[in-house]
Amino acid sequence: MSKVKTAFFCQNCGAQSPKWMGKCNACGQWNTFVEEVIQREEKGSLASSIRDPRSVIPIKISDVTFSHEARINTHDQELNRVLGGGLVPGSLTLIGGEPGIGKSTLMLQVALKCPDQKVLYISGEESEQQIRMRAERVGIKNENCFILTETNTQKIFQHLENVKPGIIIADSIQTLQTDLIESSSGSVSQIKECAAEMQKYSKITNTPVFLIGHITKDGSLAGPKVLEHMVDTVLQFEGDRNYGYRILRSLKNRFGSTSELGIYEMNDSGLREVSNPSEILLSQRDENVSGIAIAAMVEGMRPMLIETQALVSSAVYGTPQRSATGFDVRRLNMLLAVLEKRSGFRLGHKDVFLNIAGGIKVDDPAIDLAVVAAVLSSNQDSPIDSKTCFAAEVGLSGEIRPINRVEQRISEADKLGFERIFISKYNTRGVDFKRYTIQVLPFGKIEDIYKRLFG
Ligand code: TYD
Ligand code: MG
Repeated sequence: MSKVKTAFFCQNCGAQSPKWMGKCNACGQWNTFVEEVIQREEKGSLASSIRDPRSVIPIKISDVTFSHEARINTHDQELNRVLGGGLVPGSLTLIGGEPGIGKSTLMLQVALKCPDQKVLYISGEESEQQIRMRAERVGIKNENCFILTETNTQKIFQHLENVKPGIIIADSIQTLQTDLIESSSGSVSQIKECAAEMQKYSKITNTPVFLIGHITKDGSLAGPKVLEHMVDTVLQFEGDRNYGYRILRSLKNRFGSTSELGIYEMNDSGLREVSNPSEILLSQRDENVSGIAIAAMVEGMRPMLIETQALVSSAVYGTPQRSATGFDVRRLNMLLAVLEKRSGFRLGHKDVFLNIAGGIKVDDPAIDLAVVAAVLSSNQDSPIDSKTCFAAEVGLSGEIRPINRVEQRISEADKLGFERIFISKYNTRGVDFKRYTIQVLPFGKIEDIYKRLFG
């Protein structure tokens, strides 16, 4: 018997080293090296043993045939949009997300919604009964959806020969394991090899494959940074578990833009596609509540109106507290400093709490002005008219700065029946205000907006 070969792998980036190291030279992380058995059989990995029937000779790029209509409709408009217009045959897509966020539900729904494709849902996490129960809950019937609770890739490939599915979903890549590598499933070398086998299968048979991947506590896809290089598309499913809304974001896409995003709502019967996000992000409220301002923001390519809520109160303790949900606290501190120093509002001894409705995280700078307006409104205890919205960045000297896609924002606010929108006066060039019924109010300074709102 040959000697067992082992090596050390960085669990963060997959770098390999013959001996243990405290710090990974490749990614700079500390204490990530773990010893894994890497002995392969003589004949090499399965990925290299899957026979490729295609001829592999160099050909002219102009001779390569392709068609624009090649995309597969997943019957999920949000997913189609994020993928860049549908699923590309032979593509490998990785879907990451925290446990319990709804990855399995999303993929099972996709499997059930495709009646014209044979879909194989491979699950290493749940039993057939559990998946069936979930399918009952989602309430879609489909005779063409097959379930396989197997984790060994060699056996999976045998089944694939028989079933010949049109779409494959593997839930999750961390539970798959190949016989050719001895380390336990979920380790970097197993994940790498299993993904390589799946990739090879998908490229040869032109079958699209979805891999579900777990996320570690620091938010990166567990273990395999390496996976991100191998797959064609990386999607991230995220959201606040206390709210129903989920966002599907594209982090990498070889076949489309990464700025698209899909929005879903998790309810009792699975995930519902949300085609008009503004509806859910504006909470119902009475007219006269102070501290609320609506921002016209753009997430990905989609304009949406979202509510920002602020609460300003006298500090109970010596050091005032500042906290924000869905918004960067440092940015909030900066905006408060600008209000204090440049515009003369006394907020230094006040607690400030900020909340973005719907539990979604915002990093569009255009929300600044709404945050400032909400803070001032709460500080004054004077409500802002509910038909007013804001779209501008606030600079360090208190100036109202222009933002991109201002027309898209104005027209979305207009469509939703808002009556006035505050923007930067530097944002007006080339905008045809007469096209809209909404009143566009260009401003250059916070003080002027303050006077217009509360003066
Ligand atoms: P799941 O898809 O199992 O998450 P993941 O695969 O990402 O770990 O989602 C589980 C959560 O979704 C669970 O907390 C229950 C909730 N859920 C609903 O609220 N409604 C539903 O119809 C389903 C199927 C799940
Ligand atoms: Mg799951």
